[in-house]
Amino acid sequence: LLGMKYIFPHDKLVHDSEQEGLNEQIVLKFSHVVAENTPKGLAAKKFADIVYKKSDGKIRVEIFPNGMLYSDIEEINALKENKVQIIAPSTSKLGSLSSKWGVLDLPFAFPNYEAVQKGLNGKIGHLLLQSLEKDQMKGLAYWTNGFKQFTSNKGPIIFPNDIKGQTFRIMQSQVLKSQFDQLDAKSIQQAFDITFQSLQSGEIDGEENTLSNIYSKKFYNLQRYLTISNHGYLGYVVLMDQSFWNKQSEQTQQILTEAMAETTAWNQQQAEKLNEEQLQLIRKKSSIQIHELTDEERKVWTKKLYPLYDKLAPIIGKDLVEEMKKLRD
Ligand code: LMR
Repeated sequence: LLGMKYIFPHDKLVHDSEQEGLNEQIVLKFSHVVAENTPKGLAAKKFADIVYKKSDGKIRVEIFPNGMLYSDIEEINALKENKVQIIAPSTSKLGSLSSKWGVLDLPFAFPNYEAVQKGLNGKIGHLLLQSLEKDQMKGLAYWTNGFKQFTSNKGPIIFPNDIKGQTFRIMQSQVLKSQFDQLDAKSIQQAFDITFQSLQSGEIDGEENTLSNIYSKKFYNLQRYLTISNHGYLGYVVLMDQSFWNKQSEQTQQILTEAMAETTAWNQQQAEKLNEEQLQLIRKKSSIQIHELTDEERKVWTKKLYPLYDKLAPIIGKDLVEEMKKLRD
């Protein structure tokens, strides 16, 4: 008890001097479209907790999940208009800002999570962040979800031919559209939050998403077949408006930067595990038929889809596509 009397005032002193310049309460609205028990939902929560602690409650990050404020394309405009201060859209949806982002949508690009980190921490990640500058956006970090799988109602998807003639919901991305064109399938670009409805009404036969999104949005309840194909990557870039960022004190910027680094490291450890756990939950809770692509089957898919790299290079940028080929092979 005696000891505590001495420790306590000392703690308070250090703490006061650390917090100089953070007199006002800052509230940052963070909008995203997925459920809370997903890699992005959990990372957003973690980030808010770390920021709150580091700022001694002076900076509050308020999270609005499930697209409750804005759906995915809307949130990009909402950020520009300062209606929200942080978003983390999937990189696929940034094609409206720069077609370079399409590089991350190329099929069968990353063989595993390590390759994703290599790409995002290397030249690809760097060039993409740079492309945000012209739009006055600050890219704070890349967060990961994982790899996309196919779900469908029409029949098991084992070979590329199986998808022919089916209608799939895709994210708003030219590369994803080209992927389905290459497979002679129809694709409809739709916001994430209406995918469930579209599956339910039968407007679409299937969709592609991570296990985490398939689980948390209950797509598996509406679909008969799931193929573990890992055919595409789904990840996020955490964005703030550059002029809003510039207005923040150095100390606020530092707190946000540190919290983001901690959160990103945590997200990388969590994402793969969560997707695996949620696959087990899908198995347990439903009778969906699951097929995992064999190496031989995968080769048939890559033979069909790899010609897209050169075909789309003029749109995405040759340098980025060549970089991606190095990670792929
Ligand atoms: C989708 O639209 O399918 C995903 O981008 C949703 C998300 O943010 O993970």
